[in-house]
Amino acid sequence: MKLEECIKTRRSIRKYKPTKISHEDFQDIIALTLFSPSWKNSQIVRFTLIEDDNIKNKIAETCMSESHHNQSIVHNAPNIIVMSYITGKSGFNSDGSFSTSKEDRWQMFDSGIAASTLCLAAHDKGFGTVIMGLFDDNKVAEIINLPKNQQIAALIPIGLPDITPTCPPRNTSESIITYL
Ligand SMILES: Cc1cc2nc3c(=O)[nH]c(=O)nc-3n(C[C@H](O)[C@H](O)[C@H](O)COP(=O)(O)O)c2cc1C
Repeated sequence: MKLEECIKTRRSIRKYKPTKISHEDFQDIIALTLFSPSWKNSQIVRFTLIEDDNIKNKIAETCMSESHHNQSIVHNAPNIIVMSYITGKSGFNSDGSFSTSKEDRWQMFDSGIAASTLCLAAHDKGFGTVIMGLFDDNKVAEIINLPKNQQIAALIPIGLPDITPTCPPRNTSESIITYL
């Protein structure tokens, strides 16, 4: 797929076929995600692929009580990616102080870039994804026993799409650009 087509046709997928992703396909997608830019090439992002339905359903039941919408997406998805990052590197000086006024927010910035690359790489291989922000990240960290030096950035269900959504409306270029 050409880059322009990949960018334009990627959609958030919230309904999947039951087939789970193979380790080979998942590793191919992550191998591309590794080419994402990051703060001083710190490469802080990490991925946990949830393959066990018991763990997946526990995440849906205990970490998404405030969003039944997200709960049903996770129940339906064959696999969930927990995207996390190593803390204290991106946006930090070597003495541990913040490098900029954005303080520790570059960590989420790096994670966002990687999430975007991942979703495009997955789409190019025929897999659907949806980035999820609405869930209890501390509870997910507890369930998957996340190392203490990491925090969770997002959950990304992944699988073969069972739906072809239309593109939600987008702003026009003219409305968001300022030339000075
Ligand atoms: C940071 C972030 C958090 C999101 N959180 C959720 C979420 O919790 N649940 C959900 O269904 N979609 C979520 N989305 C998906 C957006 O709703 C979706 O990207 C947007 O509506 C545009 O649709 P598209 O991805 O098909 O272009 C999130 C997207 C981003 C980037």
